[in-house]
Amino acid sequence: GTGGLVDRHGRVATDLRVSLTDRCNLRCSYCMPPEGLDWLPKVEVLTDDEVVRLVRIGVEHLGIREVRFTGGEPLLRPGLPGIVAAVTALSPRPEVGLTTNAIGLSRMAPALAAAGLDRINVSLDTLDRARFRQITHRDRLADVLAGMAAAKAAGLTPVKVNAVLLRGINEHDAVPLLEYCLEHGYELRFIEQMPLDAHHAWTRGEMVTAEDILAQLTAAHTLVPDDADRGAAPAERWVVDGGPTTVGVIASVTRSFCGACDRTRLTADGQIRNCLFAREESDLRTALRSGATDAEIADRWRIATLSKLPGHGIDDPSFLQPSRPMSAIGG
Ligand code: GTP
Ligand code: 5AD
Ligand code: SF4
Repeated sequence: GTGGLVDRHGRVATDLRVSLTDRCNLRCSYCMPPEGLDWLPKVEVLTDDEVVRLVRIGVEHLGIREVRFTGGEPLLRPGLPGIVAAVTALSPRPEVGLTTNAIGLSRMAPALAAAGLDRINVSLDTLDRARFRQITHRDRLADVLAGMAAAKAAGLTPVKVNAVLLRGINEHDAVPLLEYCLEHGYELRFIEQMPLDAHHAWTRGEMVTAEDILAQLTAAHTLVPDDADRGAAPAERWVVDGGPTTVGVIASVTRSFCGACDRTRLTADGQIRNCLFAREESDLRTALRSGATDAEIADRWRIATLSKLPGHGIDDPSFLQPSRPMSAIGG
C-alpha cells in the first residue's frame, strides 16, 4: 500500500508517541503501584536501532510529522540522546518532544538540546513536598523543579507542565501551580484523570473535572479563552491575566477530543496501539526481527490503524480498561 495512517472514521495519524521503557523512578498513584510492576524482559524491548528504524518508516512512508518520546520515564533510557539525534536527522525532519518527570533532566537537558530535541513536557502535580511524596512515593520534588529550570535554560521551550488533580490529595493545588508556572513562564495544563491506573481503581465520581479546575482558577485569576486554532491538541487553553502565559485543560473524559485525534503509539516492546484505550495491538517487533522490509512494516502499521475506535468509550456500560496501565503505554 501507499499513503498515511488513516482509520475507518477518516482520521489521519501524524503524531507518533514512542514509549522507550515501561520503568519509572516515581510511582504516581494514578499510573503505577508503589511496588512497581513486572517489567518487560530486556529481549522484548526494542533496541535503539530498532526504535529509530520504526520511527524512520513512520516519517518516510507514513506521514508522521511529530514524534514524542514517553515511558515509563524516558530519561531512564541510556540511549535517549542518540535516539533523538537520529530522529531529528530524518527527512522531512519531524518535530521531536519528550514527556518526562524531569528527574535527571538538570544533568541531561544540554545533551538533549544538542541532539535536536525541540520541547519538553513535565509531569508535576503539586509544589508541596509532602504531597509530592504522597502522590509519587518518592521525595524528589526538588529534582523535578531543578530539571524544569534546566530545560528552560537549555532552550527546550515552551516547557509545558502536566498536572493531574486527585480528590482529597492535591485537589486544591491548582492555583499555586498556576502561580508558579506564571512566575517561571511554563505552560501549565491540567489533565482529567483517565482510567489507566494499574489497580483499576478509577471512578468517575472521584475524578476532579475540568469544570472543578476552572472554577478554582477563575476564582483567583482572569481567564480569557485563547482563540488560536486548537487543531488536534488535547488541551483547551485560556490566556491568564492578560497574557502572554496560557493555562490549559485536557478534559479527556468530560470533553473528549477523540474525533480530532491524530495520534498513533509504539510501545517499548514494539507493539502499535492505535488508541490509548485500544483493546488490540499490532506486533511490529516480530516483523522487524524476522526480516520484514520497510514497505511490509509500513503496511502492517496502516492495517493496525484502520480499526481505531471512534472514541475511548469511558462512558459506555461495556467499557473495559486496557490491560496495560499508563506506564506501559506512554502518555
Ligand atoms: P503537546 O501539546 O504537543 O505538547 O503534546 P501533548 O499534550 O499531546 O503531550 P503530553 O504527552 O504532555 O500529553 C498530555 C496529556 O494529554 C497526556 O498525559 C494524556 O493524559 C493526555 N493525552 C495525550 N494524548 C492523548 C490521547 O491520545 N488521548 C487521550 N484521551 N489523552 C491523551
Ligand atoms: N490519567 C491522565 N493522565 C495520566 N498520566 C499518567 N497517568 C494518567 C492517567 N491515569 C499523565 C501524567 C504524565 C503523562 C505521561 O501522563 O501526568 O504527564
Ligand atoms: Fe485518540 Fe484514543 Fe486518545 Fe481518543 S482516547 S484521543 S481516540 S488515543
